[in-house]
Amino acid sequence: MHIDLLELNNFRNYEQLQIKPGEGLNLLTGENAQGKTNVLEAIFFCAFGRSHRTSRDKEMQRFETPYTRVQLEVVRKPIPKKIEIRFNEEGRKFIEINGRKITRIPDLLGTLNVIMFSPEDLKVVKETPAVRRRFLDMEISALDKVYYHQLVSYNRVISERNNLFKMRYVDPQVLDVYDEKAASLGAALIQKRMNHLAALNEKAQPIHSEITLERERIEYRYRSTVSLDGDLERALRQALFSMRRHDLEKKGTSIGPHRDDFSMLLNGADARTYGSQGQQRTAILTLKFASLGLIKERTGEFPVLLLDDVLSELDVSRQNFILSRIEGIQTILTMTGYENIEQRLIQGARIFHIRAGTATTEVLG
Ligand SMILES: Nc1ncnc2c1ncn2[C@@H]1O[C@H](COP(=O)(O)OP(=O)(O)OP(=O)(O)O)[C@@H](O)[C@H]1O
Ligand SMILES: [Mg+2]
Repeated sequence: MHIDLLELNNFRNYEQLQIKPGEGLNLLTGENAQGKTNVLEAIFFCAFGRSHRTSRDKEMQRFETPYTRVQLEVVRKPIPKKIEIRFNEEGRKFIEINGRKITRIPDLLGTLNVIMFSPEDLKVVKETPAVRRRFLDMEISALDKVYYHQLVSYNRVISERNNLFKMRYVDPQVLDVYDEKAASLGAALIQKRMNHLAALNEKAQPIHSEITLERERIEYRYRSTVSLDGDLERALRQALFSMRRHDLEKKGTSIGPHRDDFSMLLNGADARTYGSQGQQRTAILTLKFASLGLIKERTGEFPVLLLDDVLSELDVSRQNFILSRIEGIQTILTMTGYENIEQRLIQGARIFHIRAGTATTEVLG
């Protein structure tokens, strides 16, 4: 699939912007703070209904304007789709696909598939399990709407279960009902996460081997708060039961997929603890390209690849790896300058010079 048109109104530092990306490589170039990342953010917003860098839509609204609108046309099978998202000062958000209003995020997911790779993705390696869970949940939701529903339901059950612990008396029979629901939904989530990681592992191996010249083996491994051998639902139910006293004291649910994690192992060692900066970055790079391959396999089409400022952070061989891998993939890449990139790799690219919320286009001969 590819984006044919993007139009912004009062989005971040853009009063009005219309750009038509090419089907291949697109470079958004310009000095710092001109609006390059803002364009990628707008595209991400159309894919997921939220920003990749904030959970508050309001931050995307251009200062001192009454409303924000993002429109995007995507060419995809079986028919093109037009996505429009608007929100106003009160923060109410309206999403339309081909002029039809949708009310739930799952109905948007999968309309435009994107893989975004930005420096912030290093957080997926470095930071807390919550960041990795969110990454995994978004990845799976884009491919599996049922997963998203299960996740929302599970989170609701856990939050209600936690509320029970705040009451003066907790009826064990009521708790049984919650544990039953949490176990069945939780088991489905864990199973899907493990399946997703297994599929990613299969894709990641050859990619990582190529990038590291066969020096490193990579493996993404699910880490659960419950035993993963045997019947997951039973394991969850038993663990919830045996943790009741503890949970009551803590007024929270201490085990389950909302507490799980996954690790990225490089030659068997956790990249989070033992990896160098470069290794951590490469682990993410591999992860992104593995996801890209997976989306292509599942949907029949490559997603749009958004690369925010990542080339400058990588060595030449990794830059070359990326630029030689994107054939047939619409890629939108931001960088302050492209002088240091091997020219043959960016031949024919469409260039957008971004300056203070405006864009001028040129095609590299
Ligand atoms: N809600 C908003 N209204 C108006 N301007 C905003 C808003 N949010 C951010 N900006 C402006 O957008 C600019 C940053 O845009 P962006 O992050 O896209 O820059 P960039 O071109 O990617 O820069 P860099 O190369 O440093 O990453 C800043 O100047 C910031 O003040
Ligand atoms: Mg930027």
